[in-house]
Amino acid sequence: EKITISVIKADIGGWPGHSRVHPQLVETAEEVLSKAVEEGTIIDFYVATCGDDLQLIMTHKKGVDSPEVHGLAWKAFEEATKVAKELGLYGAGQDLLKDAFSGNVRGMGPGVAEMEITLRKSEPVVTFHMDKTEPGAFNLPIFRMFADPFNTAGLVIDPKMHMGFRFEVWDILEHKRVILNSPEELYDLLALIGAKSRYVIKRVYPKPGHPIPENEPVAVVSTEKLYEVAGEYVGKDDPVAIVRAQSGLPALGEVLEPFAFPHLVSGWMRGSHNGPIMPVPMHQANPTRFDGPPRVVALGWQISPEGKLVGPVDLFDDPAFDYTRQKALEITEYMRRHGPFEPHRLPLEEMEYTTLPGVLKRLTDRFEPIE
Ligand code: 13P
Ligand code: 13P
Ligand code: MG
Ligand code: MG
Ligand code: MG
Ligand code: MG
Repeated sequence: EKITISVIKADIGGWPGHSRVHPQLVETAEEVLSKAVEEGTIIDFYVATCGDDLQLIMTHKKGVDSPEVHGLAWKAFEEATKVAKELGLYGAGQDLLKDAFSGNVRGMGPGVAEMEITLRKSEPVVTFHMDKTEPGAFNLPIFRMFADPFNTAGLVIDPKMHMGFRFEVWDILEHKRVILNSPEELYDLLALIGAKSRYVIKRVYPKPGHPIPENEPVAVVSTEKLYEVAGEYVGKDDPVAIVRAQSGLPALGEVLEPFAFPHLVSGWMRGSHNGPIMPVPMHQANPTRFDGPPRVVALGWQISPEGKLVGPVDLFDDPAFDYTRQKALEITEYMRRHGPFEPHRLPLEEMEYTTLPGVLKRLTDRFEPIE
């Protein structure tokens, strides 16, 4: 029998500004999800936070895109939004962009990563939670986990991994997808996903012959773009991901290793700046400097045979990532010195969905032809 892991998240109010989630919102979501466990809708849950984003991690047997599970998440967000409004939190209900729930939270504001899997004898899983950035921020680390032999030793030395993996890449502008094989089509894959604001890794699958069935994902990323739903800037998407580990997949340390490099991602202040992503434990995921720098939290789980979430283990709560954090701070300082100049500020095409066009419009009439 299959188990579904669903991570559904939303920003429903920051405390203060866009920095963190108020504990009462976590408590409210916990109450709603506890009741759902009693009623049998879900098997288990954990409510996490990353910056100002509330993260519902749930296991159940209802498959992906279940109206019941999505409805439950929507209800938890709505109840917590009431509390956020009472407390006057900043941007209360920020990511709930539609008034009435209609069967699925996709396209309504929240971010979703879900996978339905046949549990292995032991099922180690990592959920990743980012704040102050966009889905493309996962391209580099997911690529390195499943395709880069300099990151993942198993690709070279484990016969179960040596054949590589399949990548499902979405063109989020044209709403199309393509499956590319690694390592055969490695350079094609990189040609796309290097352009991370447009092409995003949605899922990774094993290849035929792998012990895991080829239609079951081994990694999945939330790819919702808020500006597409809202038609204007309402904060960054702040994506999540689920990654399975070990036994023919990247080992836990190979899953975490890409985050030892604080690569540049877009987001940060007003969703309009490039900056390094800093791996932190959950209690340090409260971005403050220029509303950043962007953060990533990794929670480690074993899924029990009944589908219970055994965890979380706060995986970046490790001095082994101190060097990365220090490096991220150096890059933060370096990037900040550019002030409003590119490439700290995002290029114009990506500023289209911010408040900048409103400023530029006021200058339109002042322009005159050059002789
Ligand atoms: P497994 O094949 O048991 O996942 O071994 C890999 C490992 O744990 C090495 O660190
Ligand atoms: P969030 O997407 O985390 O709410 O951030 C919005 C923002 O504008 C930060 O400066
Ligand atoms: Mg916010
Ligand atoms: Mg956020
Ligand atoms: Mg956001
Ligand atoms: Mg082992």
